[in-house]
Amino acid sequence: MKALILVGGFGTRLRPLTLSFPKPLVDFANKPMILHQIEALKAIGVDEVILAINYEPEQLLVMTNLGIKITCSQETEPLGTAGPLALARDKLVDGSGQPFFVLNSDVISEYPLEEFIAFHNAHGGEASIMVTKVDEPSKYGVLVMEEATGKVERFVEKPKLYVGNKINAGIYLLNPSVLDQIELRPTSIEKEIFPQIAEAEKLYAMVLPGFWMDIGQPRDYIIGLRLYLDSLRKKTPSKLANGPHIVGNVLVDETAEIGDGCLIGPDVAIGRDCVIESGVRLSRCTVMRGAHVKRYSCVSSSIIGWHSTVGQWARVENMSILGKNVNLYDEIYCNGGVVLHNKEIKSDIMKPDIVM
Ligand code: GDD
Ligand code: MG
Repeated sequence: MKALILVGGFGTRLRPLTLSFPKPLVDFANKPMILHQIEALKAIGVDEVILAINYEPEQLLVMTNLGIKITCSQETEPLGTAGPLALARDKLVDGSGQPFFVLNSDVISEYPLEEFIAFHNAHGGEASIMVTKVDEPSKYGVLVMEEATGKVERFVEKPKLYVGNKINAGIYLLNPSVLDQIELRPTSIEKEIFPQIAEAEKLYAMVLPGFWMDIGQPRDYIIGLRLYLDSLRKKTPSKLANGPHIVGNVLVDETAEIGDGCLIGPDVAIGRDCVIESGVRLSRCTVMRGAHVKRYSCVSSSIIGWHSTVGQWARVENMSILGKNVNLYDEIYCNGGVVLHNKEIKSDIMKPDIVM
């Protein structure tokens, strides 16, 4: 089976992290977002993953040696969420008539892909969508479906008025015949293709068991980490850190160094080669690869980008995001600061602000 992952888009809502790496390569729980999906696809026997991109593929070439064939399909202009399927048509269709997966690259879940295949094969329609329930459906694609069968009656992308609370989770299984309905031009699968298939009564939705989050925005990224770690706790608790300095669910790369007298957690990810000095307090945050948090500083509800430094006795909180290689000086207070890569921060950021 084959899968296509939509990895274009500009990831503007996750700046400044996405100014240094394309969104799919931004680390989530200590590995690039997209790797979570590639591993899930590989685990159920998908043999080729096509990355649909609209920038130069160089940066994505780190995705090698994963034991699965990875190819790129590069757009010369952004083709939206359906156009890339038309572009990759020859790669997706192999004459077997088998359905293929399509995934948004910024969603995180438990990926029950085998159940999804069984669901798709059983309903006899053309396309299947995974759905999940959320409290704030207006930022997503909303589906109205027949409870008993899963048949989708309506698909409304980002509705202004309330339609329902079951939303498109960004994980699809499509029959090759769907490609006959997509032209090679910028096209939205959500606005143009799914409503059409729903109209033809060939679109079905399966409610996703377990957690789900679109981690394409900082607040949701931080919530997504909590949900992901909760699920890890249930499934493979041995992957989580423990000890007297750990509170709740914490993921620590084995190469990270952690000093004495720290208090870490809940809901923290500490990446490869990080240095956390003594007496540091971390909660609800991500510290990315190569970052250095100096002694007695405190980081909460924030993201510390790759190779950044947090000075001693500093305090970083309230959805602060430090881009790559930021240097926050000693004793600085950073309250909701969104700091561009390579910046030196020498004075306090007293209220949420962008520092360019
Ligand atoms: N190749 C390519 N080209 N990919 C693209 C392009 C493009 O022009 N535009 C967007 N993408 C990719 C993004 O990288 C992302 O993986 C996916 O398509 C969806 O785009 P987002 O920009 O993240 O959309 P969204 O989050 O507002 O909404 C989508 O996801 C929701 C679930 O997270 C929609 O599919 C909603 O219906 C859905 O509920
Ligand atoms: Mg998104």
